[in-house]
Amino acid sequence: MNPKIELEQYCIDAQSAVDIAYFAGVEFNDIKNQLIIDLGAGTGRLSIACAYLQASYILSVDIDMNALRILKTNINGLGLETIILPICSDINHFEIVRQLLPKELHITTIENPPFGVQKKTADRIFLQKAFSFSDVVYSIHLANQKVHQFLTSFIKKFNWGIDYVFPFQLKLDRTYEFHKQKTKSVDVNIYRFKRKEIRK
Ligand SMILES: C[S@@+](CC[C@H](N)C(=O)[O-])C[C@H]1O[C@@H](n2cnc3c(N)ncnc32)[C@H](O)[C@@H]1O
Repeated sequence: MNPKIELEQYCIDAQSAVDIAYFAGVEFNDIKNQLIIDLGAGTGRLSIACAYLQASYILSVDIDMNALRILKTNINGLGLETIILPICSDINHFEIVRQLLPKELHITTIENPPFGVQKKTADRIFLQKAFSFSDVVYSIHLANQKVHQFLTSFIKKFNWGIDYVFPFQLKLDRTYEFHKQKTKSVDVNIYRFKRKEIRK
């Protein structure tokens, strides 16, 4: 793949993809028999991990056709092409209309979004989109106080709350020329966001 820095394309390491899916699927039971949306799916490691935890279907959305071609090769090789459905779209234009879906359908979004380093608002768009159709959202963000404070106030506007924060270390392989080390550990938090109940 020819990664595009403007899209903040970093491929999650396989172990982390499995750990995060395990956290969502086994600790919280948010994957088995659910519809999973992988926003910014890239080459599909998170999608594939969810498929092995018995998701019903996974929609893997990415703007970059080259990344999705690799995803397609990966899922074909693993025989997962009837479960993982790649969708090439800018998430700004991707919509799921809840009213058209069965009421009992539970939607879990899992995302490793751009951290907003290249384009300040990139992570916000991912969250806003996920909140528009999901029941629960797992999202990876840099672990620091400023980001945490920002997220806490940003999500309030959408009537969502932080349900759980799982401190985690991603292992980033050298992807771009400006990366000096072969691999680098990055401290992140995996957030589990939930829509706030409306009190009657
Ligand atoms: C940090 S990478 C994560 C890739 C993959 N989920 C993983 O964990 O290996 C972010 C992904 O978001 C995609 N992306 C960035 N902006 C996007 C947009 N506006 N719409 C859809 N996908 C986007 C990039 O192409 C990239 O694949």
